[in-house]
Amino acid sequence: MPAEGERLFDRFGREYTAGTVIFKEGDVGSEMYVIQSGKVNITKKSRDVEKVLVTLGTGAFFGEMAIINNKPRSASAVVVEDSRLLVIGPKTFDAMIRGNSEIAVRMIKILAQRLQEADEQIENLMIKDANSRVVHFLTHLAAKGKQVAGGTLVEVASPELARKIGLKEQEVNDVLDKLLKAKLIRRDEHSDAFLIHDVNRLREFLEFLEMKEKFGDF
Ligand code: CMP
Repeated sequence: MPAEGERLFDRFGREYTAGTVIFKEGDVGSEMYVIQSGKVNITKKSRDVEKVLVTLGTGAFFGEMAIINNKPRSASAVVVEDSRLLVIGPKTFDAMIRGNSEIAVRMIKILAQRLQEADEQIENLMIKDANSRVVHFLTHLAAKGKQVAGGTLVEVASPELARKIGLKEQEVNDVLDKLLKAKLIRRDEHSDAFLIHDVNRLREFLEFLEMKEKFGDF
């Protein structure tokens, strides 16, 4: 770790082992956390089931909302891999934001990105048909995917995909099988990724599904 990171860790650092609950949704708290290494899940309870909203890794931060809004924790934070976190108290947070516009701008950008992702998720969850929901999500992933020989690589495992779009894993796998058969996607042999040969064709297919839903089978 660079000297700067070590210095920050000496001042603000705490080590957490996997499985530790840092805070729970509804708790009162006024500290923000920055992940120096490791992984943390942000989870929320829905109808008695704990759902992972996002898994955060090195460089990400969480817990800022309670400080900014002066409200209880909006979600729980659970360590999934042994982690080194910087724990920033409210006074330091305030001084950091007011004293360093670069940090403030970086934070605004990340919050805007988070809001955009939440909006995309809302848009996706409003789609009733499972086929369209999976294809819609894949086209959005493709926009951030990696360009490789033969197309766009999107890295997502079907359990994660199912969780993000609120479908059962079996439903997601059924749709993926249909897309594989139609050669709209291909499974990557080396990872949990799919190769989308032609993203525009997938978008056209989504339009076709939307038309089908609108007009029914003719
Ligand atoms: P806070 O409300 O203090 O505690 C829970 C934290 O989870 C919250 O601050 C954010 O930092 C983080 N959080 C909540 N929702 C999301 C989300 N959709 N994506 C990423 N982080 C989130």
